[in-house]
Amino acid sequence: TDVVALVPAAGSGVRLGENMPKAFVELAGRTLLEWALDGLSASGALSRVVVVVPDILQDTTSRLVESCVLPVDVVVGGAERTDSVRAGLAVAGTADIVLVHDAARCLTPPSLITRVVEAVGAGASAVVPVLPVVDTMKSVDAHGVVTGTVDRATLRSVQTPQGFDGVTLRRAYDAFPETATDDAGLVERLGVDVHTVVGDAEAFKITTPMDLVLARALVARRTQ
Ligand code: CTP
Ligand code: MG
Repeated sequence: TDVVALVPAAGSGVRLGENMPKAFVELAGRTLLEWALDGLSASGALSRVVVVVPDILQDTTSRLVESCVLPVDVVVGGAERTDSVRAGLAVAGTADIVLVHDAARCLTPPSLITRVVEAVGAGASAVVPVLPVVDTMKSVDAHGVVTGTVDRATLRSVQTPQGFDGVTLRRAYDAFPETATDDAGLVERLGVDVHTVVGDAEAFKITTPMDLVLARALVARRTQ
């Protein structure tokens, strides 16, 4: 089985506020992208990787990925995450299984990556890692006034890697030109069931400066 991971790393990282594309911010001396590639390699579940980056960083990335044990293609992304994934998918060819994994979830444990690949291998067309929602959830109106309390038991936070059988993901991207906040969202619109596996707290997305504080603490603990 040809198992390909697409790694969207072409975002600008506005919320992190480090004045550089987020995937190239360093954590303990290595870029978030390199940390993400380490996790994917360590899973032992992949055949190859397609990294999607900003055009000005394509050459830099090609040098960065030279040390990766997996074959890596580096392609240029687009304005929205969906555009970047679409660009990656275009070079993923006829892969049997496609994972889409945010570079920003760079400390994702290899065991989660394996869990997702195994679920797709066992026959699910689409798989997302999820965690329960911990806060009470409320809906609000345009003025910020609460309109109701949402039943938290039916909600899940969704992480990556999201895994798909290649045919299904390609069909979803071919069918819908619009953007979506995650890849499974497009597959849902096909009417295909999206399955869940248990996520992992360490697969959190580095989005804000506080997330970087947490990431530094986790890396310090791992290298103790
Ligand atoms: N991403 C991408 N192409 C885009 C936008 C996002 O490849 N046009 C990638 C990011 O690099 C990141 C992942 O998608 O690995 C998740 O996106 P997000 O956390 O929103 O990252 P950024 O868009 O970089 O951050 P921000 O929204 O704060 O600018
Ligand atoms: Mg973004």
